[in-house]
Amino acid sequence: MTTAAPDRATEASISPSPFYVHGITFEARDVLVFDLRPAGGSVAAFEPGAHIDVELPNGVMRQYSLVNEPGVHDRYLICVKHDPKSRGGSRFMHEQLRAGAKIVVRAVRNNFRLASDPAPALLIAGGIGVTPIVAMAEHLAAAGRPAEVVYAARSRHDLAFLGRLDAAASRLTVHVDDEAGTVLDVDAIVSAATDDTHLYCCGPGPMLDAFLTSAARRPPHCVHFERFVPVVAPALTGGAFTVELARSGRSLPVAEHESILQALRAAGISAASSCEEGICGTCEVRVLAGTPDHRDGILSAAERQASRSMMICCSRSIGERLVLDM
Ligand code: FES
Repeated sequence: MTTAAPDRATEASISPSPFYVHGITFEARDVLVFDLRPAGGSVAAFEPGAHIDVELPNGVMRQYSLVNEPGVHDRYLICVKHDPKSRGGSRFMHEQLRAGAKIVVRAVRNNFRLASDPAPALLIAGGIGVTPIVAMAEHLAAAGRPAEVVYAARSRHDLAFLGRLDAAASRLTVHVDDEAGTVLDVDAIVSAATDDTHLYCCGPGPMLDAFLTSAARRPPHCVHFERFVPVVAPALTGGAFTVELARSGRSLPVAEHESILQALRAAGISAASSCEEGICGTCEVRVLAGTPDHRDGILSAAERQASRSMMICCSRSIGERLVLDM
């Protein structure tokens, strides 16, 4: 059994594909770019804003945004910042992954697509959140629609891809916290944008929270964001509930401290997953009845309200019963 991909999700699911590390380059302090080439076969198609699921030689799975320049489709370029709290992803990549190493790429997914209409775009990046933003800015420039880019980092040593951003953006504003003595004023930037501007933001949790608060006044279709760390969403309910699988007609109890994904596995039912932290979108399933308690970092406020889909790795049910399209 597989999960049903909702309309919102855009995915190029690929069977696990062998890749190797062709090269590693320094980009900024604690930031490396890995050039991943297919070990035979080709690279699945992708759009700016997409990320890939990477299975490392130590068995750890991680998601990384693609930083390919427009027209470079024969490899995946990912940018990895060494996280001092790493649980085996970024630390392994920085300290042990070397040129020639084999890795597996499992999927290309895009939860952070560029809008197709020609309205102005404002791209806001914080820290390593610049990785999807640089590819998106270059794509817009190549399409003749250069965007304004605002890029914030804690220190000048942390700034990455400045040359590429400067070449692509109609206007580039760089904010360095330890030089300005304060963090970026996201509300002022959002407020200054015209009403029809598509707003994009990728960065750390506080920046995303400030962005979403400011952008709440905007038309939902103009607000786009991507998180790279899980949100800690307060639970609306922690109680047990029943999940019904519409296609098979099966009903499963989901215990108080269990996720839907875990309940499915315990029942021998497979379902797609990757991060299992509510940030990649792999486990998204269409909701047919019931009210989800959304606890992911992907769905927008409008998508949460509509509740057409949910992330079964972390989200739960407000009521006693949920019916899923699986
Ligand atoms: S597995 Fe990544 S959001 Fe659920």
